Amino acid sequence: MTDAPHADAHVLSPATVAVTAGRPERVQGGPVNPPVVLSSTYVSAGVPQPGELLYTRNGTETWQPFEQALGALEGSTQPALVFGSGMAAIAATLSLLEPGARVVLPRHAYQMSLALVADLRERTGLRLTTVDIADTDAVLGAVRGTGDDGAGGGRAAMLWVESPTNPMLEVADLPALVAGAHEVGALVAVDNTFATPLGQRPLSHGADVVVHSVTKYLAGHSDVVLGALVTDDAVLHARLAGYRSLHGAIAGPWEVWLALRGLRTLALRVERAQANATELARRLATHPAVAEVRHPSLPTDPGHERATRLLDGYGSILGIRPHGGPSVADAVVDAVRLWLPATSLGGVESSLERRRRFATESLTVPPDLLRLSVGIEDVEDLWADLDQALRTAADGSRR
Ligand SMILES: Cc1ncc(COP(=O)(O)O)c(C=O)c1O
Repeated sequence: MTDAPHADAHVLSPATVAVTAGRPERVQGGPVNPPVVLSSTYVSAGVPQPGELLYTRNGTETWQPFEQALGALEGSTQPALVFGSGMAAIAATLSLLEPGARVVLPRHAYQMSLALVADLRERTGLRLTTVDIADTDAVLGAVRGTGDDGAGGGRAAMLWVESPTNPMLEVADLPALVAGAHEVGALVAVDNTFATPLGQRPLSHGADVVVHSVTKYLAGHSDVVLGALVTDDAVLHARLAGYRSLHGAIAGPWEVWLALRGLRTLALRVERAQANATELARRLATHPAVAEVRHPSLPTDPGHERATRLLDGYGSILGIRPHGGPSVADAVVDAVRLWLPATSLGGVESSLERRRRFATESLTVPPDLLRLSVGIEDVEDLWADLDQALRTAADGSRR
């Protein structure tokens, strides 16, 4: 297997790394893609040597090309660690915390990340402080334990960052948060699912661990559930790899192979989906049936200035609140024909859902908020369908 090839002193762009990293060695007659190896065990006798393939729960050559490619994309000297889902990767990261430690999380983090921390709080005494991740002073106050957090104070052991957040799209000042958290010795973990390594590389700002739901943009076709971690710290890498072997939340070979295939087109998909989302946000901002649009591309969006400064691209998730409340939002979901009513995001197909249909969603997410995951279809087709659905739902509410 090879690193991304590069001419002397020329640094490859992430779009190229996504295509080239993790390929097999260039040898005459060799394949250009890595094989899928279906083997739970490896021929081995005597004392295992470091790095030797032994048993697939510990590691397999089918993971390595994807792990190498994602590690390179995130700018790490270590390969990524692939897991059976994004949640398995999140659970592994949280395992770095001692019982009774305190973790600071965005109040609008992915709802299951919040639910997992709440579960650990009940069972292990982990303490949790939720914050508005866009409010840098409040976040750092909570990390230092000087904020009024009701969680017992003391320095936090970990700051968990999502930026942009799911589903409110708040944008964090990541460099300032990492610097402030490290001043008090807190680890910084960043869920980079929304931004992707093309939008932001948290390790370059000093973050300790990057988490991905590979299910979303990295794999990109809504056909696998997969997660990954990236860290540049060899000690953390060994601990997290050890956790994966012990807890067994491993990925299947086909899923990882499909994810690597998806990764090859990441830059194209992200570029197209972002362009679509930016155009739809612009049009929705003046749509008569829409009360509010959230997308960092809009100059009026609270995250606009920071996203412009810190992110490469504004992402392809939109939040909209139609006039008329949750029932009209549900009617929009019922009226779309091209957009898919579905949870999840980051696939080539456009989808939408009302987030508060889940009883577990944060209560500070507006009940009428529709989260739109914009795909790579023709933008005029997306607009025509969304426009007719918004008008149909608005007409229905007036009857
Ligand atoms: C931001 C974010 N992180 C993590 C996850 C969890 O990933 P998975 O569904 O692959 O377990 C999700 C899933 O929606 C997500 O949106």
